[in-house]
Amino acid sequence: MKIAIIGAGNVGGATAMRILEEGIADVVLIDIAKGLSQAKAFDLDDARSIVGHDNSIEGSEDFSKIKGSDIVIVTAGLARKPGMSRENLLKKNYEIIKSISKNIKELCVNSMVIAVANPVDIMTYVLLKETDFDKRRVFGMGAGLDSSRFNNLISKKLNIPSSRIKSLVVGSHGKAMIPLPRFSTIDDKPLDKILSKDEIDNLVSLTKDRGAQIVSLYGSGSAYFAPSAAILDICRAIINDENRTIPISVYLEGEYGVSDVCVGVPAKLGKKGIKEIVKLDLNQQERELFLQSVKSIKESTNIIYKKKDNG
Ligand code: LAC
Repeated sequence: MKIAIIGAGNVGGATAMRILEEGIADVVLIDIAKGLSQAKAFDLDDARSIVGHDNSIEGSEDFSKIKGSDIVIVTAGLARKPGMSRENLLKKNYEIIKSISKNIKELCVNSMVIAVANPVDIMTYVLLKETDFDKRRVFGMGAGLDSSRFNNLISKKLNIPSSRIKSLVVGSHGKAMIPLPRFSTIDDKPLDKILSKDEIDNLVSLTKDRGAQIVSLYGSGSAYFAPSAAILDICRAIINDENRTIPISVYLEGEYGVSDVCVGVPAKLGKKGIKEIVKLDLNQQERELFLQSVKSIKESTNIIYKKKDNG
């Protein structure tokens, strides 16, 4: 199994470490910054005898090294600065991801592609369109991270272990993300039957702001420990052919009543990629939020692809 990670910044480096420590694949780390990916690869490799992994790690500036990868993880792109929205990154990262897509299309004809660069739902769409790969093989990491953050905040609020909590966030990985209390449970009991509306509203808002909170505390760069964990979780489901449900950004064609958009929903993931998009029975309020979220993604996607339909 070979995994290529494009972008050797904080997310790329942390992801490489998690994959190596998991012992599930050889890793190729690519970055255009001279020396960066090689330095990280040497550094990670030097831990081999202590950590006890036996997979190889190679860092390079040369894209041809991704050839034949089973999974390509695209973390490259600019990260947010304090006060900057994920959407601000749109145009800059579009150009970067477009050129990366060309390499993936040429060198990794059968690979799965995981988009991580922000705004991730739009970059997932760009990777899908520009590689022209089957929609089951291209998806974005965002909703899984948001769900994990929601889980953590619920766990802290109630002082219970996160293993007892199932949490779900759907929609865009951006301001219009939708934590779903009705589909988030503690010992199978929905959150909206445990906490008051105000308490839930507070958790929802903390979840939505968590990424920006971390960006602001760092002062430069964004989160990478939890994002790399969410990426690893997707890789596990694929490599172990788990067909496990994970919230990811996927291309919808009629599901949830929307089309031609990549947005976070739960999907079953296995070795062939997306096996099934899970359809949640959303109530009217949740559905309205979902449609608003889709609208916000489409507005950005349409700027790039110059389309008129935001519905
Ligand atoms: C975050 C970035 C990875 O949410 O989008 O922290």
